[in-house]
Amino acid sequence: MGSKKKIVLFASGSGSNAENIVKVAQDLEFIEILGLICDKANAGVFARMEKLGIACAHIPLPAKEQFESSEQRRVAHEQAILSHEWVKKCDWALLAGYMRLMTPLLLNHFKREDGLYQMINIHPSLLPSFAGVDGYGDAFRYGVKVSGCTVHLVDEGMDSGPILLQDVFKRESKDTLESFKSRGMALEYEVYAKALKHLNDDTLLSLIN
Ligand code: GRF
Repeated sequence: MGSKKKIVLFASGSGSNAENIVKVAQDLEFIEILGLICDKANAGVFARMEKLGIACAHIPLPAKEQFESSEQRRVAHEQAILSHEWVKKCDWALLAGYMRLMTPLLLNHFKREDGLYQMINIHPSLLPSFAGVDGYGDAFRYGVKVSGCTVHLVDEGMDSGPILLQDVFKRESKDTLESFKSRGMALEYEVYAKALKHLNDDTLLSLIN
């Protein structure tokens, strides 16, 4: 077996996917989690990581007033991320509810020779349907009969990178958005866990059709 895959987690919110990843990785000896980067000061993910003994770095978007454009502001944020030692050392970035689009600056740090980026995201819908910030809400309000989640590689677009894994669940007639979402979240944990198991020997990328 090769050396361990060094992982940095990125999250912005409650962190239940990050918690799941850490717990799954505890049984996978080929994964080493260096730490978690979060852009939001009061995110629930900090408390979850503390309980699990995972170090966190809070790297916020810098104050707007310092920049002439939102592009410059995003680049400055990513420069701060890139200067973190975990990012310098890591092999893979795993996004777990990280609510920011990456610019080419950060993406290029993870670029492979084949042009893919070693960065994984989970999205709460069957992509390419319902990309964006509210996958469950958008799918539920649309009236889908079946929904699911997608683990995919990140690229320059919004939830648009190559699909690695998907799984589905049925909408029940009695579902509320809350119950629909909670079945979806349980599925997210399973699908992300499956993807992690493929990180060992690079079979992950062979999942792309
Ligand atoms: C999840 O639904 C994930 O698919 C999406 O953002 C949500 C994050 O939830 N990208 P949590 O912070 O992992 O609980």
